[in-house]
Amino acid sequence: MINMEIDLSLIGMEKGRQYETIITTQNSDGVKNAAPIGVLCSGPDTILNRIFKGSHTLDNIISQKEFVVNITHSPELFTSSLLETLDDSCYNEDLSLKGCDAYFKCNAISFTEAVKQSDPIKKKGEAIIIKSKVVELNVNKDTMAFNRGFGYVIESLTNFSRFDLIDGELKEFYIKRFKETYRVVNKVGTKDDIKAMHKIKKELKAKGHDL
Ligand SMILES: Cc1cc2nc3c(=O)[nH]c(=O)nc-3n(C[C@H](O)[C@H](O)[C@H](O)COP(=O)(O)O)c2cc1C
Repeated sequence: MINMEIDLSLIGMEKGRQYETIITTQNSDGVKNAAPIGVLCSGPDTILNRIFKGSHTLDNIISQKEFVVNITHSPELFTSSLLETLDDSCYNEDLSLKGCDAYFKCNAISFTEAVKQSDPIKKKGEAIIIKSKVVELNVNKDTMAFNRGFGYVIESLTNFSRFDLIDGELKEFYIKRFKETYRVVNKVGTKDDIKAMHKIKKELKAKGHDL
């Protein structure tokens, strides 16, 4: 790992965009935990997380005020950190995950109760927004933090290319799916992803679909 100057753009993180990461934390007894969590980049050395109450990650960040954000494109790491408990041998001594492309250490600065009305999960007071400062950035290999936007653009394009071949319920399903992916890309995607989704929407409207 190479210790870098603290600038999240070095790992492809743009201000205002959300990235999917694995956050590693530990509790006061040193029990380690890993979970996939979205990270909103709010500046070159600041991030925001919105974490639902009841998770180990939130409890550990509240009690320790420190955590590690791991950057990886490994489906296995994402899946096992959600569905299983990672063995201690998966962690390095500094709490980062073995095999990640890059990681950064954060100190939590503030905690705010919040909900976002556009979100599918709307219950008030169920989540905490955590603002944190990045205090160390380490890069193992050239990498870009994972953003969901591009995957949705490709999925929307694939569905678009099938539109004239399908009908009825499946078409309805694709339209519903497009509306949801459009919402998500506008929230998390890069400028280019958003531009692409606008174009697809325009074409769908031109075909007479109600969007
Ligand atoms: C890609 C991905 C991103 C996620 N982002 C968040 C998030 O930003 N906030 C959150 O509260 N949960 C998020 N989750 C859900 C948590 O990972 C999940 O609730 C997990 O069980 C929490 O684990 P823990 O109790 O070990 O902390 C995400 C899940 C996935 C798969």
